[in-house]
Amino acid sequence: MIIAIDGPAASGKGTLGKRLAHHYGYRHLDTGVIYRAVAKAMLDAGADLTDETRAVAAALELDPEKFGDPVLKTQRVGDAASVVSAIAEVRRVLVNFQRQFAADPPGAVLDGRDIGTVICPDADVKIFVLADPKVRARRRTLEAKARGEDADEAEVLADILKRDERDRNRAASPLKPAADAYLLDNSQLDIEGGVRAAIEIVEAVRAGRQPV
Ligand code: DC
Repeated sequence: MIIAIDGPAASGKGTLGKRLAHHYGYRHLDTGVIYRAVAKAMLDAGADLTDETRAVAAALELDPEKFGDPVLKTQRVGDAASVVSAIAEVRRVLVNFQRQFAADPPGAVLDGRDIGTVICPDADVKIFVLADPKVRARRRTLEAKARGEDADEAEVLADILKRDERDRNRAASPLKPAADAYLLDNSQLDIEGGVRAAIEIVEAVRAGRQPV
């Protein structure tokens, strides 16, 4: 089974993807990390983030062994990822890696922006995670502070809104729910509540029921 989870920045889709994969014994791929790794390579090289030739070269040289680098999680790299991920050719060279990951047994959960629409249009279950931008900003600020980083909630909110705008309005694979995705608004839910709601959706789809 393939489960596609999409949603905007800081919606909690990554944590949800990880938890769902654990619940079902599937593998998990946070596809944002791929774009973040390309962005980090560009930043490290001092390259212009919109330089298509260099970005494609960075995408072709990706080393999945480095996807765990904590620097990839920073806001600076996330912002840069939002820019490089708008380059259609960068997305194109990363499609096969993602599809291969999804196809390998026993099953997989992929989270990102275009999993249900472009990468795995035939996914068995598609969930589009939403949350009020103010709630996302609050959560992200608390997480940053818990890691000992300095974070200003108003700045985090501005960053989230800017990223949403860029991810939604780009020509290449924009962020949008697939027509057959189930919407999960977790503004009022904690992590456990979100995981329960997602499992409920998966179980309903498996049983041929309409999720409530
Ligand atoms: O989910 P995230 O914050 O780690 O993603 C970082 C950026 O990468 C995001 O702003 C847009 C891009 N991205 C994408 O274009 N497609 C994906 N499937 C995942 C992420």
